Amino acid sequence: MKTVRTRAELEQSLGGVDRKRVGFVPTMGALHAGHLSLVKRAKEECGTVVVSVFVNPTQFNDPKDLENYPRDEKRDLELLGEAGADVVFMPGVAEMYPEPDTRVFEFGELDKVMEGATRPGHFNGVAQVVSKLFAMVRPAKAFFGEKDFQQIAIVKAMVEGLDEKPEIVPCPIVREADGLAMSSRNTLLTPEHRAAAPKIYKAMSEGVGKMGEMTPAEVERFVMDTINSEPLLEVIYFKIVDALTLKPVENWADSVAIQGCAAVRAGEVRLIDNIRFV
Ligand code: PAF
Repeated sequence: MKTVRTRAELEQSLGGVDRKRVGFVPTMGALHAGHLSLVKRAKEECGTVVVSVFVNPTQFNDPKDLENYPRDEKRDLELLGEAGADVVFMPGVAEMYPEPDTRVFEFGELDKVMEGATRPGHFNGVAQVVSKLFAMVRPAKAFFGEKDFQQIAIVKAMVEGLDEKPEIVPCPIVREADGLAMSSRNTLLTPEHRAAAPKIYKAMSEGVGKMGEMTPAEVERFVMDTINSEPLLEVIYFKIVDALTLKPVENWADSVAIQGCAAVRAGEVRLIDNIRFV
C-alpha cells in the first residue's frame, strides 16, 4: 500500500494504472467497519483501490465540529493496509485548496431539505471536495455509504455536470450489534449518550412496522416522539421522503422507493441515520 500526500505523488502512484479499473473510496478518516466495507466492496469490483483521508473544512458549517472531528492517521493507515487499499491519498488543506474554492453548486431542491436545511453550505462543501478528488483520482467507480443518504443524491447530481462521470456505488449501512449506525462521530459520544443512541434505529424500525395503520405524517410524529422520549436524545428532523427526489411523501402509494431520514442530537454529537420504508 502506498501513502501519498500530494497531487503529484498521487498522479505518479497511478501512473501506469488503467483508470477504468480504479475504485475510489473518499473518507474523512477515523475509520470504522463501515468504511472498511466500502474498501472491501471496491476491492471486489475494481483492480486498484484508492482511498482518500481528508477532513474537508469547507463542508463544516460549525468550526467547533471541525475542530472536534476525530482524527487518527496511524490507525487509519493500519486498517487500510489490512483491508487491502492500494493507494491512500492523505492531502493537507493547502494541497486540496491552494486557492479558496468559490464554486457554488446548484442542486435544486435536493440540498434545501434535511441535512441541507439544517447545515447551510454543507453539501456545497461536499461537492467542492468530491469533485476535486474525482478530478485527481479519475476513478471508474466511487463507493459511498448509505448512512449519508442525502449525500449520495447530491454526489449523483454533481457527477451529472462532469465530463468524466464515475459510477456512484451506494453501499449498505453497517450497524453496531445494538443497531446504532457506525459513524466516526460515535467515538465522541459519552457512555450515557452511546447507551441511548440505539433508540434512533429502534424507533425508525418500529415506524416501519406502523405503515399499515398510519400515514407517513403520523409515522414521522411517532418516530420523533419515540426518540424524544429518551431524555438524552433530541430529534433535529425525521422526514419520510421519496428516495430519489427527497421530496416529502404524503401517501405510501405515491412513490416506489421511500426512505425515512433522521438527524438527532445526542449531547454534543449530531447523529444521522435512515431506513427504507418502501
Ligand atoms: O462522507 C464523508 O466522509 C465525506 O462527506 C466525504 C464524502 C469524504 C467528503 O469529504
